[in-house]
Amino acid sequence: MSDFSGVSLKGKTAIVTGASRGIGAGIAILLAKRGANIVVNHVSEGSKKRAQAVVDEITKIGTKAVLCQADVSTLDDFSKIVDAALKISETGKIDILVHNAAAGLEANLLDTTPDFYTTHFDCNVRGPIFLTKEIIPHIARGGRVVFISSAGARLGVAGQTVYAATKAADEALVRVWAKEFGHSHGITVNCVNPGPVATDQWFQSNEQFLKDMQPLIESTPAAPRVGEVDDIAPLVAFLCSDDARWVTGSCLSANGGLYN
Ligand SMILES: NC(=O)c1ccc[n+]([C@@H]2O[C@H](COP(=O)([O-])OP(=O)(O)OC[C@H]3O[C@@H](n4cnc5c(N)ncnc54)[C@H](OP(=O)(O)O)[C@@H]3O)[C@@H](O)[C@H]2O)c1
Repeated sequence: MSDFSGVSLKGKTAIVTGASRGIGAGIAILLAKRGANIVVNHVSEGSKKRAQAVVDEITKIGTKAVLCQADVSTLDDFSKIVDAALKISETGKIDILVHNAAAGLEANLLDTTPDFYTTHFDCNVRGPIFLTKEIIPHIARGGRVVFISSAGARLGVAGQTVYAATKAADEALVRVWAKEFGHSHGITVNCVNPGPVATDQWFQSNEQFLKDMQPLIESTPAAPRVGEVDDIAPLVAFLCSDDARWVTGSCLSANGGLYN
């Protein structure tokens, strides 16, 4: 008989930041399909309906979901996220934290302002650092922290001075925290590193950037196309599972072989 128990997330409680749309929504729904209860986080008022639709879809799947509007750039908002997770937890613990929300605008170095820098670093680096710190006391042994990084961290894409630096910082955090929280807490910390994915973030890129990226996309070894949310979410679900217990401090490339 088939045994898929190693990939089951039944009864786990997961927080997915930025889960109203795009990759985060795909991750939230897939983790729910594997049995997890989900905190569906988003930030903007305009996304409330989309985030609620994700919650409704999860409820239909049959696990618990709660909407949590909170800004990962704002430290004072973190208690809302923790409280939401504890409210739906079946064990009083939190099992999975997926750092997916990110600011991802392009700017060449010469157009980069201190405000642009701060907005991106607050959302992509400071937020995950202090949200993780807040959540660690509540994470169960066997817990999982997964970051969504980006090709930008390693590929060297023009126009991504600040964004690339934030994502490289996230990849560094994964390696450090794997060591800090392995023996002490039994937690694994990993990241999934997508190439271009067809979401709002990709389509909001300026025309020149999309044009410059076209040759790279056509050279993608697995297929000459941008990635889809469904190319990324299963890797996150795997890293959250018991089957992935021996994987920590690693970065799983989800980019059709563009680079490793
Ligand atoms: N798309 C790509 O080509 C690509 C490639 C590589 C890596 N990635 C990474 O994949 C992740 C998801 O990207 P995506 O393309 O799915 O993005 P997206 O479609 O633009 O969605 C962004 C999500 O993040 C949320 N968010 C943004 N700022 C937030 C904040 N301060 N606090 C809480 N939530 C916030 C948004 O909430 P609202 O809806 O409320 O605004 C939304 O749910 C990001 O880490 C991104 O860097 C994307």
